[in-house]
Amino acid sequence: MNFKEMAEQNEQWVIQQRRFFHQYPELSFEETNTTKEIGKRLEEMGLEPHYYEDYNGLWAMIKGGKATADSKTIALRADIDALPVEEHTGLDFCSKNPGVMHACGHDCHIAMLLGGVKMLMEKKDELQGNVKIIFQAAEESCYGARYYVEHGLLDDVDAIYGAHIWGDFDAPYMNFEAGPRMASCDNFTIEVEGVSAHGSAPNHGIDAILAAAHIITELQSIVSRVNDPLNPLVVTVGEIHGGQRFNIIANKVVMEGTTRTHSPEMRAKTEGLIRRIAEHVAESFGAKATLKFDYYPGPVINDHEDLNKIAHDAAVKMYGEDCLKPLAKMMGSEDFAMFMEKVPGIFGFIGSRNPELGFTAKNHNDHYTVDESVLKRGAAMYAQFAYDYLEEKSK
Ligand code: NI
Repeated sequence: MNFKEMAEQNEQWVIQQRRFFHQYPELSFEETNTTKEIGKRLEEMGLEPHYYEDYNGLWAMIKGGKATADSKTIALRADIDALPVEEHTGLDFCSKNPGVMHACGHDCHIAMLLGGVKMLMEKKDELQGNVKIIFQAAEESCYGARYYVEHGLLDDVDAIYGAHIWGDFDAPYMNFEAGPRMASCDNFTIEVEGVSAHGSAPNHGIDAILAAAHIITELQSIVSRVNDPLNPLVVTVGEIHGGQRFNIIANKVVMEGTTRTHSPEMRAKTEGLIRRIAEHVAESFGAKATLKFDYYPGPVINDHEDLNKIAHDAAVKMYGEDCLKPLAKMMGSEDFAMFMEKVPGIFGFIGSRNPELGFTAKNHNDHYTVDESVLKRGAAMYAQFAYDYLEEKSK
């Protein structure tokens, strides 16, 4: 039996898993029960789950029947956390945890990967290498993946595959496209220090608010005058706090923002550009600015032709050329990039939108739900990709 047929057979089981996890969503860094429940499923399949003492998420290794000492190990990843959203889908299996919802579809990722593992276990004896199964916590924090990389999770891995269920993409299409897919996400804080004075006597102080206003305006020149117009770049100041009273010249302003780009070159320059503007503009007012810049995930770029081809061919083999559709790259981010910085990787999308069934809400919306008929495809892709990767690389 091929993976497409096995996925049909396991479809109801995968849907049941999705509905179970959908009812018990847990926030980033709080996924203790989710971790336990996934571990139970893996044990039932004959795998040994490995946990972390001080972190959620888990991993297991499928040792292929035909693996040798030189064989490759492919990692399959699903993220498992939910969001602080009050669910309003009206589903009869809706969230039982008030104020928490699987609004980004990570419940589907858990179910699809469990389905993929189930199928791979049935073909274990044929596998030409090993498959490392990763259920990752805290994706929504933007840096949940970092812990695992720092704790050596990928040290014995040759490549990694992941996919996201996507509400802005029609079911049952899939997308495994070369090039940039999602943007980097780095955050910054600028603190501007001035000197307070009476609001009627600005000449006695240094106005931190006026300096901050100029800094915000100048920051946009990075996008419009430094960046290549063909390369998308976003610089957003999303928060500003300053001043004490309407008639006091403010001595302090704190601004927080985020930068997004698909270009690793531009990403490497952004911190310096923001610092130059913040410090010099502040100085021109006699004020002082300090920048704190925090690096989160880099861009997700499918730049490994061999992996792109294996994913493309795996999808086409099962569901025909028509199952794939283009999807524009986006400025949102995904901490899967932290895995891709360590080993070659590929990241795909599984469409979940179905206007005929009324499923049009996007990820992170309180009405987000999915056309469950795509879950079998996502599960089959995990299995087929891993199988084909090991076959291809052991030639
Ligand atoms: Ni997500």
